[in-house]
Amino acid sequence: MAPAQELQHDQQAPPRSDEAPYKSRVTVVGSGNWGSVASKLIASNTLRLTSFHDEVRMWVYEEILPSGEKLTEVINRTNENVKYLPGIKLGRNVVADPDLENAVKDANMLVFVTPHQFMEGICRRLVGKVRGDVEAISLIKGMEVKMEGPCMISTLISQQLGLNCCVLMGANIANEIAVEKFSEATVGYRVNREIAEKWVQLFSTPYFIVTAVQDVEGVELCGTLKNVVAIAAGFVDGLEMGNNTKAAIMRIGLREMKAFSKLLFSSVKDTTFFESCGVADLITTCLGGRNRKVAEAFAKNGGKRSFDELEAEMLQGQKLQGVSTAKEVYEVLSHRGWLDLFPLFATVHEISIGRLPPSAIVEHSERKPKFSLADGSI
Ligand SMILES: NC(=O)c1ccc[n+]([C@@H]2O[C@H](COP(=O)([O-])OP(=O)(O)OC[C@H]3O[C@@H](n4cnc5c(N)ncnc54)[C@H](O)[C@@H]3O)[C@@H](O)[C@H]2O)c1
Repeated sequence: MAPAQELQHDQQAPPRSDEAPYKSRVTVVGSGNWGSVASKLIASNTLRLTSFHDEVRMWVYEEILPSGEKLTEVINRTNENVKYLPGIKLGRNVVADPDLENAVKDANMLVFVTPHQFMEGICRRLVGKVRGDVEAISLIKGMEVKMEGPCMISTLISQQLGLNCCVLMGANIANEIAVEKFSEATVGYRVNREIAEKWVQLFSTPYFIVTAVQDVEGVELCGTLKNVVAIAAGFVDGLEMGNNTKAAIMRIGLREMKAFSKLLFSSVKDTTFFESCGVADLITTCLGGRNRKVAEAFAKNGGKRSFDELEAEMLQGQKLQGVSTAKEVYEVLSHRGWLDLFPLFATVHEISIGRLPPSAIVEHSERKPKFSLADGSI
């Protein structure tokens, strides 16, 4: 991890001759459903704000479409991501680039937005390839579990590439923001408020209101853990248990999100759970997200069709995050001896792998934890 920093400073790209030195250049690493919407938001602002270069580069994991054409070529010809965000113009200043190294080499602001399982490989490819003065932000929900413990994706990016990484999370179902319906988001930052405000400026539009809070881990864990609760909410929907049960699952889930976050990082603030990244994201994901939808189908089928099979059939290349996050959380819980403290998180994983039936979501979540997390001590 350490050599990354040394290499970067040698390889800092000089400002291009066609731009003023103070202008920031933005590259978006990722081009799925949310990656494409993020590019659209950013591109509308880089055109408007003089402190940014107009062009937004978007790294695209190249795919061949059923027509035989390359996805990048179609995006650059039609200005639409026909596979992951059809029908939405990204902005003429968005340039799709299949070459990861080329896409990042001039940027001093990097936006990471791929499914979390690909980030370790992407970081490995980027070591020594980014500018020394680069700032990053992660829109990625999920974590990596390593021998030494859980590693948030923003930490993975910071450590592997030797850079500062903020996060942006919120009640943000991509397709709704794509058609400019009003919503909010939260930027989490570690120390530098000025950098956080620059990210706020880059993402904010009249229909997308962004607020910064000094709590990277809290914001990122909210965004990550709510996907596990959404799987539970989907089971409840699939079993047709009704709104009261779903609300109860959401409340227990929020309690476990808060307790888990604070046990892992004592710096996590209670107030973060009342930002868009907290309760608002939990609500929207449990009502409308893809994790909820696929979990509903899983429960309707009595757990007889696997999540992998349902994901492939229902999401057309989009990725589920909740099931893999539930597994990662379960590993942390068993490693630390916390399984009894988090009955909802543990049960979601056990149902997902077929060890328990979907109906166990209420039986097990209702079981009182040995040590009550509801007493306000965590
Ligand atoms: N979609 C949403 O509504 C939404 C909202 C907020 C946050 N997020 C988060 O944003 C992140 C990205 O999600 P998304 O919705 O943009 O993606 P997606 O699930 O829509 O698309 C999957 C993406 O992964 C790419 N891909 C496939 N194989 C790959 C590989 N081997 N290496 C690298 N990339 C590969 C695909 O080309 C595609 O761009 C996730 O962490 C997700 O939780 C999504």
